[in-house]
Amino acid sequence: MQNKNTKIEVIQKALHNWGGFFIPYQMALHELESDFKIIDLEWKTKHGYSPIEHLKTRMKTLKSLVEKIQNKEVSLTQEAVKNEIKDIAGVRIVTSFIDDVYMLKEHIKKREDIRLLGVKDYIQEPKSSGYKSLHLIIETQVILSNEILWVPAEIQIRTSAMDFWASTEHKLNYKYQGESIPEDAKKQLIELSKASSFMDNEMSKLRGKLLTY
Ligand code: GTP
Ligand code: MG
Repeated sequence: MQNKNTKIEVIQKALHNWGGFFIPYQMALHELESDFKIIDLEWKTKHGYSPIEHLKTRMKTLKSLVEKIQNKEVSLTQEAVKNEIKDIAGVRIVTSFIDDVYMLKEHIKKREDIRLLGVKDYIQEPKSSGYKSLHLIIETQVILSNEILWVPAEIQIRTSAMDFWASTEHKLNYKYQGESIPEDAKKQLIELSKASSFMDNEMSKLRGKLLTY
């Protein structure tokens, strides 16, 4: 434990001198937020409806980054951290319907200013906790005065029902960090995740009946 704490302190100290390293990630979040706000406005104008219910961006906290560097045993160089940790910049897009999740994925695949590097589909294959979401690892273009950067980010796309489950489960789990939550609570969360799928499926049927796009 002593050893682990000392290591964490070393990582923390190193990152404190890396101020400039994080700026491109903040720029990438500005880019992505603006890209999706434009799509949202376009859809609302054309159809009176947007696939985006809401959107949030976040920088990984220093604490969470330090833990990830420690757990994944990443070398303490900016190059290694950039290559191995792709979720320093994060975007979460919440949709009303499952179809909208995949519509947004297709949109992202087509964009020339975004490169899709990896997909984890926890909707097709939910995590054992019951967690459901589509995770895309991407790089987005950031245009500076004299150069163009490609900056990695993680985009999580999920429905309101999946988001409600995930944010509530996160709050319930918070207290148990590092330990496992009681088995009966785990089972109940899995049941609640199934209930959220039921809602999503029923909403999809309604969408099919009522909306034409
Ligand atoms: P990390 O080191 O946590 O980033 O793991 P990873 O790189 O394998 O990423 P993964 O695709 O598993 O997704 C990690 C992110 O997804 C987390 O930061 C959470 O936002 C979310 N997530 C994954 N599993 C769960 C879960 O069981 N419950 C909740 N609430 N969120 C989850
Ligand atoms: Mg991740």
